Amino acid sequence: MTATISVNGSSADYPVHAGSVGPEVIDIRKLYGNTGRFTYDPGFTSTASCESKITYIDGDQGVLLHRGYPIEQLAEQSSFLEVAYLLLNGDLPNQQEHDEFKYLITRHTMVHEQLATFYRGFRRDAHPMAIMCGVVGALSAFYHDSTDIHDPKQRTIACHRLIAKMPTIAAMAYKYSVGQPFLYPDNSLSYTGNFLRMTFGVPAEPYVINPVVEDALDKIFILHADHEQNASTSTVRLAGSSGANPFACIAAGIACLWGPAHGGANEAALEMLREIGRPERIPEYVARAKNKDDPFRLMGFGHRVYKNYDPRAKVLGAAATKVLDTLGISDPVLDTARELERVALSDDYFIEKKLYPNVDFYSGIILSAIGFPTSMFTALFALARTTGWIAQWTEMMEDQDQKIGRPRQLYTGHGPRDYVPLAQRG
Ligand code: ACO
Repeated sequence: MTATISVNGSSADYPVHAGSVGPEVIDIRKLYGNTGRFTYDPGFTSTASCESKITYIDGDQGVLLHRGYPIEQLAEQSSFLEVAYLLLNGDLPNQQEHDEFKYLITRHTMVHEQLATFYRGFRRDAHPMAIMCGVVGALSAFYHDSTDIHDPKQRTIACHRLIAKMPTIAAMAYKYSVGQPFLYPDNSLSYTGNFLRMTFGVPAEPYVINPVVEDALDKIFILHADHEQNASTSTVRLAGSSGANPFACIAAGIACLWGPAHGGANEAALEMLREIGRPERIPEYVARAKNKDDPFRLMGFGHRVYKNYDPRAKVLGAAATKVLDTLGISDPVLDTARELERVALSDDYFIEKKLYPNVDFYSGIILSAIGFPTSMFTALFALARTTGWIAQWTEMMEDQDQKIGRPRQLYTGHGPRDYVPLAQRG
């Protein structure tokens, strides 16, 4: 199939590629050569930047598939480490592959001892994401033997290192902020159990893992593992397209994730719910969200791709009740969240604009119940998303069609003009 694009009466045909599921794409790579025109798509709302086999989203139906598997099934039946294997390798592992992968990841959980001194350069009140940006970027200075992007073996080692070390790095960021000693990883624990211990354990006594908490956090990690070509993943791909090493690319992804319109929304959503405080104040905040002159938005609501309920928010809404019940926590924030969801979803503004709760709406309530400060929320997102970033980066590196990413622009500045010496300027 082709699509005909006509510019000033001159037409040309462009190939239309079909994906395995989802909309077809018009291949406009020859458009500029044929017409001397670029396409204009700020925010990439109609632009596919790459071909990928990893994750599929149907935003209208609220469907999210990783390598074909629905996210609900993975969240219910799989583990984060298995999902990491799936994203990286394309299929679920058999028992032997699973055990080998677990062994490989656990062999990389420690960080270079000198990296600990790196933390001490940060102020105690540094945001964990500021630390994560710096420390993850610095890994390229510590692991020279996995920065040759043209060597597939080194690429694989870098992937394993990043997945394995992120919990250690995130837990150290937390420990540093509260002034407690860093804990070394315990490889006898699960990926998530080990992270919980490194975060909340202390050297003075054994740490007992609550299986409900471990399970809930593992679910959160699964739900955040990948999400197609979102802003941070596209940042990782763009950074990688220039040939930058994987540690630097993931640091770029972390920087992008930090923003409140993206990964920073889970922190902002819980802060908003706390500020609302009680269900009676909801109408005031809903009115603000609808007011064009007020920059306030309902955090944890709306999504560029989902125009239906985010399937991840559904899983987390149920998990929030379970975790709070099991831990015996009665948090009014959960009641406020449920009521806000009810009010918003029956309000014409939100219905018309198809604004539903997204993954960030309930995750903060669970993370807070587990004991994480809000400043750690986005760091946890980064920990989990590293798996998706690195799988997408690997896919790009193996793509023969891969080119440096270089968008063009609609220039609206001055035309050519002559330099005027300082003394002659009015
Ligand atoms: N509250 C109130 N109004 C909203 C909200 C919201 N949360 N989200 C979007 N809208 C409105 C906009 O004002 C806009 O209205 P208009 O058409 O009258 O101008 C319309 O809905 C479309 O919004 P856009 O910003 O154009 O949509 P976009 O796809 O660019 O933005 C985004 C998506 C950034 C997620 C947006 O919905 C938002 O800011 N949400 C709050 C932050 C958030 O929760 N981010 C997390 C996203 S999930 C993730 O990154 C893991």
